[in-house]
Amino acid sequence: MSKTPEKQPGDPKTTGHSWDGIEEFDNPMPRWWLWTFYATIFWGVIYTIMYPAWPLVQSATAGVTGWSSRAEVQEEMVAFQEANAPWNAKLVETPLQDISADPELQQYAVNSGGAVFRTWCAQCHGSGAQGAPGFPNLLDDAWLWGGTLEDIEHTVAYGIRNEESDDARYSEMPAFGEILEHDEITQVVQYVMSLTNAQTDDAAAQAGKVVFADNCAACHGEDGKGDITQGAPNLTDAIWLYGGSEEALTETVTNSRFGVMPSWENRLTDAQIRAVTAYVHQLGGGQ
Ligand code: HEC
Ligand code: HEC
Repeated sequence: MSKTPEKQPGDPKTTGHSWDGIEEFDNPMPRWWLWTFYATIFWGVIYTIMYPAWPLVQSATAGVTGWSSRAEVQEEMVAFQEANAPWNAKLVETPLQDISADPELQQYAVNSGGAVFRTWCAQCHGSGAQGAPGFPNLLDDAWLWGGTLEDIEHTVAYGIRNEESDDARYSEMPAFGEILEHDEITQVVQYVMSLTNAQTDDAAAQAGKVVFADNCAACHGEDGKGDITQGAPNLTDAIWLYGGSEEALTETVTNSRFGVMPSWENRLTDAQIRAVTAYVHQLGGGQ
């Protein structure tokens, strides 16, 4: 244990406190530190005069320069809109099929359409457009309502089974729980499973084939390959919107589903709708 050194004559004064015999010299702050400290106070005062600073009840003091982050964003947005205006005009004028023939325009459409997609569509369809149960994957070439540019534009502009647009795509699969016997539902589910070669009960699937022809073929087709004019999914491709397990299929057939997509005609500009159409079309599944 070292001993606390004795005070030497000429040492600075101490603060007068003593902790277990340990005392503290009362040295002045270093000059450079003190001046920096005063400078920051000075800077702080000037800053709060120049810029928005002190919170008040409703807002904050505005500052004499009139600067605001909102105004700055607004200016930037106006600048972007002005820069994009000619492109947007061109996008609306050009027939949909011809957009991809102009590489620059196609590039613009895909970039701005990607931004629209991430803002308005990703919540339901996934940020990579990969979909989720009930929300179709837009990357593959399985289409409920058709995958041409015109089909996609129509779907996006007016939506599906919504009450907002008279031009929304519409169809409704009945809830067969109220139409078919329990056994018939079990059989038709086995038949649907057999279409994708899942392990099935052959006898039930055979009986289900008849139930299918009588009740389902009108929409899903004799061969179960679906019908894009009614948004009736292909049941033979092992791509499931609501799931291909026995439970999921039984639920679909018993209670039916009613997938709704909003209409975008009043939320997005024509240019935005065309851009996002071009974007979705080039994701891989476009026809
Ligand atoms: C609130 C959820 C929701 C949002 C937001 C949404 N969609 Fe959809 N979308 C759906 C649903 C649900 C379906 C499938 C409806 C059905 O069962 O037929 C669908 C279907 C589609 C289809 C048809 C797919 C096919 O196979 O034919 C396209 C294309 C599409 N959406 C694009 C978009 C675009 C582009 C946006 C953004 C502008 C968007 N969706 C925003 C829910 C949404
Ligand atoms: C009036 C037309 C119509 C009839 C009849 C019909 N369906 Fe559908 N079916 C649809 C539509 C439309 C959808 C898509 C529903 C949605 O997206 O919300 C669908 C969806 C399905 C799905 C979900 C597919 C998936 O990818 O998840 C299955 C399974 C199915 N139907 C089986 C049947 C069976 C079995 C019958 C007969 C018992 C039948 N449907 C009768 C129109 C019909």
